[in-house]
Amino acid sequence: MDFSIKPIDAKTGLAGVKTGCIAVGVFEDKKLSQAAQSLDRKGQIAAALKSGDITGKAGSTLLLRGLDGVAAERILLVGLGKEQEISDKNFVSAVQATARAFATLGSADGAIALPLDLVGNRDAAWAARAAVLAVRDAGYRYDTTKSNKEAPQGGVKKIAFLAPAADGAVKTAVAQGIALANGVDLTKDLGNLPPNICTPTYLADTAKRLAKDYGFGVEVLDRKQLEALKMGSFLSVTKGSDEPPKFIVLKHLNGKAKDAPVVLVGKGITFDTGGISLKPGANMDEMKYDMCGAASVLGTFRAIGEMNLKLNVIGVIPACENMPSGRASKPGDIVTSMSGQTIEILNTDAEGRLILCDALTYVERFKPAAVVDIATLTGACVTALGHHNSGLFTRNDDAHDNLANELLGAGKASGDTAWRMPIEDAYQEQLKSNFADMANIGGPPGGAITAACFLERYTRKYTWAHLDIAGTAWKSGAAKGASGRPVPLLTTFLINRANGKA
Ligand code: BES
Ligand code: MN
Ligand code: ZN
Repeated sequence: MDFSIKPIDAKTGLAGVKTGCIAVGVFEDKKLSQAAQSLDRKGQIAAALKSGDITGKAGSTLLLRGLDGVAAERILLVGLGKEQEISDKNFVSAVQATARAFATLGSADGAIALPLDLVGNRDAAWAARAAVLAVRDAGYRYDTTKSNKEAPQGGVKKIAFLAPAADGAVKTAVAQGIALANGVDLTKDLGNLPPNICTPTYLADTAKRLAKDYGFGVEVLDRKQLEALKMGSFLSVTKGSDEPPKFIVLKHLNGKAKDAPVVLVGKGITFDTGGISLKPGANMDEMKYDMCGAASVLGTFRAIGEMNLKLNVIGVIPACENMPSGRASKPGDIVTSMSGQTIEILNTDAEGRLILCDALTYVERFKPAAVVDIATLTGACVTALGHHNSGLFTRNDDAHDNLANELLGAGKASGDTAWRMPIEDAYQEQLKSNFADMANIGGPPGGAITAACFLERYTRKYTWAHLDIAGTAWKSGAAKGASGRPVPLLTTFLINRANGKA
């Protein structure tokens, strides 16, 4: 999809715009938006509303052709809900409906004249970015491993935003929306690839390609180097697999040299069988998505690289498979993590925390401004929050430096929401082991919380937050596939930091 911004000619107005289709908003109670009004030379739009053919509810649409006095071939009426206040959700539903209608038109170009500046307490830049993201999300197709790669016939390929005047902020926002969508696409592609293709080596190669394309620093550590670093916990997970583990470090150092970096750490289990604590067979294929934390770090790097974001950001990805074998870790094994703390592995299926804890110790060397880890960590988080919110865990509530609010706000602004979960010391009791410094599981109660508490023990030297994305990183059922979350949240968080809105 190609996006552009077209200023509206002051003389001929919206009615003079030559294009295949213009999408304009209408409201419930048969009300026309200003743009719809300006196209309604002969009352045909008002008549269509009056007829009841479109309710004006958010996401409802009606296509009209050949309106008198209008240069565009078609007008798409799009419901925005109640006129009083257009919510984020209603605006995004309207754009999604526009994208669906545009996809089936017999025209290659269309225009959006929805009221970008009337969304709740958002600005036009927000609306433009959200619109680009929603259109691209609706248009995403995975075909890498399909033999028929034909693009669908017809449909709009070029979308112009019709803005009253050339607005610099909207132009930047469209460019940022495209960069963000490209990042989301990469994350979806990586999540959707099968685990025999998307191996730790494949993730490392992807990181190297990104580094080349956007000028990032990149380093990929192999097993020998991980042994030298004494990452006994990470290495215990990869033991049962024939695929070599990779530890990926990406550096986008585009801020001031003296500024401490933000570090993103992504769980990169390219397949999680559970290991000796083997998972049941049903839906086990979905454990190919267990690298979506890693994929979201790579997608976010793609986005900030393309935006040339003025910020220091480091991405760290421990990547390996979790497999059963004669060489695999056993329940009862005790390993020593890079931090020196010992861990009794009571369940080999709680492997995410075992690879992340060593990565979280490794990143101390960067003296980070903040560390955010992203992981499909627990089924318990899906039980707690379902598929709508990622779980957010952090100790950080300082009045001035509040990572929790920064991440929650970035989630709300990007429609990629997170919900705060507790992380109190009381839960730490559940990780007690009679034989090591801690066990790797805390029993069924509060499973997402005890997993976060485990990670917390490795993060005491810096400001840290943990996002459990087990419920949000992919969709099951008919729409099965990676969602690209939480790339919008992470990228928005970094944009805000770069703008000094931390
Ligand atoms: N990758 C899984 C978590 C997961 C489960 C993500 C379901 C998405 C859907 C993780 O490695 C895991 O297996 N966690 C265990 C932890 C348990 C053994 C304490 C779980 O959630 O069952
Ligand atoms: Mn597991
Ligand atoms: Zn896992």
